[in-house]
Amino acid sequence: MLARRRFWLVLVALLSAAILYRNRLRTYLEQVSANVCAFDLPTAGMYDALVASALEGFYARVAGETAAAFPRGRVLEVGSGPGRLAVRLAQEAPNVAVTGVDISEAMVERAARRVAEANLTGRLRFEVGDVGALPFADGEFDGVVSTLSLHHWPDPSRGLVEVHRVLKPGGEARIYDLAHWLWLPAHGGNRLSMMAEASPFGGGEVEVVRWPKAVPAFVLLRLRRKEEAGL
Ligand SMILES: C[S@@+](CC[C@H](N)C(=O)[O-])C[C@H]1O[C@@H](n2cnc3c(N)ncnc32)[C@H](O)[C@@H]1O
Repeated sequence: MLARRRFWLVLVALLSAAILYRNRLRTYLEQVSANVCAFDLPTAGMYDALVASALEGFYARVAGETAAAFPRGRVLEVGSGPGRLAVRLAQEAPNVAVTGVDISEAMVERAARRVAEANLTGRLRFEVGDVGALPFADGEFDGVVSTLSLHHWPDPSRGLVEVHRVLKPGGEARIYDLAHWLWLPAHGGNRLSMMAEASPFGGGEVEVVRWPKAVPAFVLLRLRRKEEAGL
């Protein structure tokens, strides 16, 4: 009698566990599929270990170009992810204060850890925030840089309005992203140069970035905020 009761208890426990696991697994698989469609990985840690680590050469190049464009002042990195570029930039440009902003709390935590490990806490900070409503004052930055983030922004045009707002007059935004042929399907053919023209910048320059080696895998969109009349 006792053995039969135990059997039913174990069976019910096993069935409940299977149902719970199935629901959790389904939620996880749905998240994975949504992330894959958005060119993303399930977690910040996986992105950092599998993708960002393979792009160190690209970040070294972007850090060099960014340091040459903004040798001093305040630079904002939008969609800073795990912080690899921000750390390189702070090392390359000792007179620059770097702020990173990212919508993902997990990415911001990861970036903050990397900064602490590199002993750069004084000149480098990260905040959680959406490019569509940046948590910074008008004209706060001399320059803005971004890598591989724009194709994730739900409304890239709104993002450009915000990037323009937080730049000082005369400041420049340097937005590196996947080449058109890689990211166009996600945005229904909305081309970068058209977006730049319709933005408060009134236009921008799009350059092909060849990396690795001669592969035209990236583009750089350069946008300059006009000097204000009378200044
Ligand atoms: C592919 S990762 C690139 C990260 C980093 N820039 C790099 O090159 O390794 C895209 C990043 O953009 C961030 N992101 C996506 N949408 C955003 C938004 N609306 N505002 C701010 N950051 C956003 C994501 O959280 C993610 O960290």
